[in-house]
Amino acid sequence: MKLLVINGPNINMLGIREPGIYGKNTFADLLALLQDTAQAENVVINQFQSNHEGSLVDKIQEAYGNYDGIVINPAAYTHTSVAILDALKAVSIPAVEVHISDVDSREPFRQISYPSMACVHTIKGHGLEGYREAVLYLLDHYG
Ligand code: DQA
Repeated sequence: MKLLVINGPNINMLGIREPGIYGKNTFADLLALLQDTAQAENVVINQFQSNHEGSLVDKIQEAYGNYDGIVINPAAYTHTSVAILDALKAVSIPAVEVHISDVDSREPFRQISYPSMACVHTIKGHGLEGYREAVLYLLDHYG
């Protein structure tokens, strides 16, 4: 199984940005967790992070025919991006949405997620472990 993990804006600032909300683990720690998960589960996991909405859309489109599943944390674009929603619908690859924080217990504007309408599952508030859970979910249901 070949999975693509996509991270949106400011996820590269993990460990620095709002540690009270996102924790002290760094983006490098997240990459290491993904590598560990790939080895443990014997799957290929490629990771892409961008602060630019169009680059995220491009990457989702490029996944068509090349990946069996997507794990996506669209970050702030979660709450605004019809373009990311449409891209996920266009490629029709099983996608699991991840949020490090528990968005449900935060500001009202974080309560809406456009991409979730094209995702088979959402994991919120489990920290970086949520990414591992998302990979396991895809393996369980589509592997
Ligand atoms: C986030 C939650 C979003 O509301 C926020 O804009 C992010 C990160 C999360 O992982 O908890 O950048 O997606």
